[in-house]
Amino acid sequence: MRILLLTHAFNSLTQRLGAELQRRGHEISIEFDIADSVAEEAVALFKPDLIVAPYLRRAIPESIWSQYTCLIVHPGIIGDRGPSALDWAIQQGEAEWGVTVLQAEAEMDAGPIWASAAFPLRHAKKSSIYRNEVTQAATGAVLQALERFIAGNFVPTPLAACGEARGRLRPLMKQTERVIDWHRDDTATVLRKMNAADGFPGVADTLFGEPCHIFDAWPEAILHGELGSKPGEALARREGALLRRTRDGALWIGHAKRAGDLKLPATLAFAPESAALAEAPLQGWWRAGSETWQDIAYEESGSDENAVGFLHFEFYNGAMSTAQCVRLQSALAWAKQRPVKVLVLMGGADFWSNGIHLNVIEAADSPADESWNNINAMNDVARELIEAGDQITVAALAGNAGAGGCFLARAADHVWAREGVMLNPHYKNMGNLYGSEYWTYLLPRRVSEEGARGIMRNRQPLTAQSAAEIGFTDACLAGDPQAFRIDVARRAAEIVAAPELAAQLSAKRERRARDEAEKPLTAYREEELAHMRRNFYGFDPSYHVARHHFVRKSLASWTPRHLARHRDLGWKVPT
Ligand code: COA
Repeated sequence: MRILLLTHAFNSLTQRLGAELQRRGHEISIEFDIADSVAEEAVALFKPDLIVAPYLRRAIPESIWSQYTCLIVHPGIIGDRGPSALDWAIQQGEAEWGVTVLQAEAEMDAGPIWASAAFPLRHAKKSSIYRNEVTQAATGAVLQALERFIAGNFVPTPLAACGEARGRLRPLMKQTERVIDWHRDDTATVLRKMNAADGFPGVADTLFGEPCHIFDAWPEAILHGELGSKPGEALARREGALLRRTRDGALWIGHAKRAGDLKLPATLAFAPESAALAEAPLQGWWRAGSETWQDIAYEESGSDENAVGFLHFEFYNGAMSTAQCVRLQSALAWAKQRPVKVLVLMGGADFWSNGIHLNVIEAADSPADESWNNINAMNDVARELIEAGDQITVAALAGNAGAGGCFLARAADHVWAREGVMLNPHYKNMGNLYGSEYWTYLLPRRVSEEGARGIMRNRQPLTAQSAAEIGFTDACLAGDPQAFRIDVARRAAEIVAAPELAAQLSAKRERRARDEAEKPLTAYREEELAHMRRNFYGFDPSYHVARHHFVRKSLASWTPRHLARHRDLGWKVPT
């Protein structure tokens, strides 16, 4: 079938659906929902059998839905309508939520239902629920709807006939409904309100007396500040986060956005004010327990010669600033000194890594200098990993990875991705960035020179399955996050217990020495950085322009040509 994905943006859900449909042999093209006339033009060019709208912010025009079946993905249970579906569900503490695939009609989200799927609603950030449960449920429901569409005899159920429907029309959630009353709300309520607003629009609040939006809340069970500190007061800082008193405890605020500014680590958004606060540092890299917030945490399983090390780094949105890279490198160097023969880099729950931190770069006095510092710091982490001679290293991707983050993962001996994870192992979307992280060393030896050129040129997202099939990763493991962790631990334990481990380690060291003699890592790095220097400091400002639009979330004014296949020069209207 020819399926047009009509979407507000090429977000992770759209990427996943596009890739899953393509895997099943369907012909996919993508158009951003920019204006009715643009969508009409796309439909006229592509002549789709079906239109799927994974992520829309406005209604499909009648000129399209009256002629084509348009399936809308709504992140809510049957009957739920309105633009703040997940926000309401999380804020009101629903135990179960769902996704509905319905047909576009005149009234938004009220058309007949083709498929739906339900899931238990975790206590987690909206963005995390969207990238995990919603994406998984939406994929299943769209595939089911498609089967029904292809069968030809399925009659979608009108909303009025859904007797058990719990959902209803709810308005856009306003900031007045999100407001935190620091004197009355307990910690659980503050967390719920902040989770319901993450990563957009955040909760409108104040910090140090200044208005801002706050994001990225983490519970804290140990530190509660001085006796007499008041609810809402900022008590201490740790890395990028601020500890805030609540009525019955405290929590960390990881990110803040001041009016007209970018979303930034809270201590950067309020740099002088934060600097005056006491620091509450972590005592080393060992996981301190779940009671206190810790962005980098190390733990071990097994004992003595069978021990496996697990290094977690939970960086918001997978973005890794210079400071975060420096800390991660030092944690990795420390972990390499532990008496473990297998070291697993777990990344974070939602993202493994998305490469250099574009928001922090944008906010710097010299974005070019900060880009340079950041890519060098990323390279230092990658090198630390490549040069781990005493361990078999594993990158275990529970969450998505993009750009430099993919190649940082590839610097490990094994890359295992959870089914459902999306990978974007290319850089060019960010203003034709050349990329570094030793990708010119790491990629061709996995997928051949030709394969590497294809991946970089095509700029397509890969599902965990297709990444394993083409050899970019080594395995696609269980889709359920808990099952994935168990699977990773089991496989790591198998490596460490295998009789051939010693031989594997010496083969690894020999190979590295051979590669180094043939062409040193510094040579790869210098060549890549020569290109990056031009990207950052050269006369072509494409990278700076692309970054500006990315971090400011500028509305797209056209669909990139590598996505809109129907706009290819050679595209012929199907007969
Ligand atoms: N730096 C800063 N923020 C980043 C980031 C980065 N490298 N990568 C992603 N983010 C942020 C987004 O701005 C967004 O922020 P929000 O919480 O304010 O909405 C959030 O992470 C999620 O990103 P989004 O694009 O919605 O996620 P996705 O899963 O739909 O798409 C990518 C994933 C990787 C395709 C996309 O995020 C991307 O292109 N990132 C940039 C990668 C890059 O070019 N890195 C630099 C070169 S190494």
